[in-house]
Amino acid sequence: MKNIVLVGFMGSGKTTVGRLLSETTGMPLVDMDTLIEERTGKTINEIFAEDGEPHFRALERELVQELAAGENQIISTGGGIVLNSDNIADFEKNGLVVCLLADAASVLERVQHDSSRPLLAGDKQARILELLETRKPLYEAVTHRIDTSGRPSPIPTAQEIIDLYESNNS
Ligand code: S3P
Repeated sequence: MKNIVLVGFMGSGKTTVGRLLSETTGMPLVDMDTLIEERTGKTINEIFAEDGEPHFRALERELVQELAAGENQIISTGGGIVLNSDNIADFEKNGLVVCLLADAASVLERVQHDSSRPLLAGDKQARILELLETRKPLYEAVTHRIDTSGRPSPIPTAQEIIDLYESNNS
């Protein structure tokens, strides 16, 4: 069976929906940021500060190639995975890639009290608006998209993804 790969902006619900999908399907959840932190022994903030964003993107790229070769996993990616189109192409070879969309207000509400995201340091609202604007075409280019804006529960989103997965696998 193919992987289910969740992409989308920070705060779009990838981790929450990923956990629920994993519980529902019994497929293991692989959270890319968590795996990178475990393997490097550093937090994402530390990697950005000490090694720089290009190094983080290279770690992400390597991990995509490794994970795309496997199957039967729920993969929750980092929000910047779309910056390299090869990442999406690799995941699509062996997986259902679903992009979760969320408007700026929903993102802000979800990440407001979180300081683990280096790209949102400083004026969070301004950073969200700026990054969402530049990345919008990249998220919109993913074939399967679900808008999670204003959705308080991840349950309907997870169900939509399971329906899509079943129709794609049959
Ligand atoms: C990033 C998103 C983060 C993490 C890193 C960079 C991005 O993941 O990979 O801080 O460029 O959008 P989440 O989307 O899980 O917050």
